[in-house]
Amino acid sequence: MKLAVVGGGSTYTPELVDGFARLRDTLTVSELVLVDPAAERLELVGGLARRIFARQGHPGRVVTTSDLDAGVEGADAVLLQLRVGGQAARQQDETWPLECGCVGQETTGAGGLAKALRTVPVVLDIAERVRRTSPDAWIIDFTNPVGIVTRALLKAGHRAVGLCNVAIGFQRKFAALLGTSPERVHLDHVGLNHLSWELGVRLGGPDGEDVLPRLLAEHGEAVAADLRMPRSLLDRLGTVPSYYLRYFYAHDEVVRELATKPSRAAEVAEMERRLLELYGDPALDEKPELLARRGGAFYSEAAVDLAAALLGPHPGTQVVNTYNEGTLPFLPDDAVVEVQARVDAAGAAPLPAPVLDPLYAGLVAQVTAYEDLALEAALHGGRERVFRALLAHPLVGQYALADGLTDRLLAHNREHLAWA
Ligand code: G6P
Ligand code: MN
Repeated sequence: MKLAVVGGGSTYTPELVDGFARLRDTLTVSELVLVDPAAERLELVGGLARRIFARQGHPGRVVTTSDLDAGVEGADAVLLQLRVGGQAARQQDETWPLECGCVGQETTGAGGLAKALRTVPVVLDIAERVRRTSPDAWIIDFTNPVGIVTRALLKAGHRAVGLCNVAIGFQRKFAALLGTSPERVHLDHVGLNHLSWELGVRLGGPDGEDVLPRLLAEHGEAVAADLRMPRSLLDRLGTVPSYYLRYFYAHDEVVRELATKPSRAAEVAEMERRLLELYGDPALDEKPELLARRGGAFYSEAAVDLAAALLGPHPGTQVVNTYNEGTLPFLPDDAVVEVQARVDAAGAAPLPAPVLDPLYAGLVAQVTAYEDLALEAALHGGRERVFRALLAHPLVGQYALADGLTDRLLAHNREHLAWA
């Protein structure tokens, strides 16, 4: 089986390679192609990838290339994990919204819109080239903002599924707290990418006993501390929001905090410098400890599960991003939701989801409308489309604020936006 990773020079790649090596009985990768325009970085990451495979006795071949068409040709699945403009662009997304009193984050609010505008055309171009060279390939998208990017891919008719590690992170965390194995923990995970709630935590499968009340009673403190939200809020909700909900539920608190510390982009850029130094050491043949400080924990497990399900041998149930198709009845069918789905060679089909309380449904509906307008802006450009997306966003909503953010977004992203 041939897999290609676009953005293969990412410092995250060893996480993925480690997963392919450890889980080779689930997914047998014979050729792994890392595609990236940054040649120097690609060589460092590719070298470590080969050593990880060798150490674990994995027979697969690791190929590095900056030629996208050659790299993806004949691939069974293509993983997209790129960041247009790199950490420098992310740094902007995290900074200028603060000038307007808004959260600066790479997937939420105005920063998330900027990232969507930069990313959608690039991803669509890559997907088109994948379709030309490997029409049957599955596209697995980790590229943020995953909801909007997946919607763009699906609307253009690509065989695509969006993936994020938030759900698998909760599954692993809850399993540890409950003293059980992750495979036994089924989450009633409902919402959009980076806007989701765990409504239930079931043991043994979708029909198993819901132990969320017990989990909150016994371990509420630990769960809340991880999310940096008060335990009393979780008790009052009776659900577990993803940590991205903090940008909504504690927006002003986060803005104050962000103003006083270095951006996550700066932190990550520093970590990446150190990671690349480590990757260059020929004695290193496993993923370094430092990588665990990035946000991508368990993403390799989720990716292996998804690829193994899509490519046939192991159909299963997994949280993915895909078309709503009636799952959340108050959203259009072609909204992209993040829910449990049955995944097999035919793709992802959402499982029936629990009814969403109006407390969450209102926010989900509003952010879905924003995502729709954001995609319009990404596909067609134009200042007014950017303004409309921002005006619709629940964290913006006022015209003067939307105008101020629009001006800044355009000023900071001209080099990445063909139409600006
Ligand atoms: C989590 C999210 C990803 C995001 C990442 C950022 O894994 O699910 O969507 O890209 O965090 O991690 P970083 O280490 O770059 O801050
Ligand atoms: Mn994510």
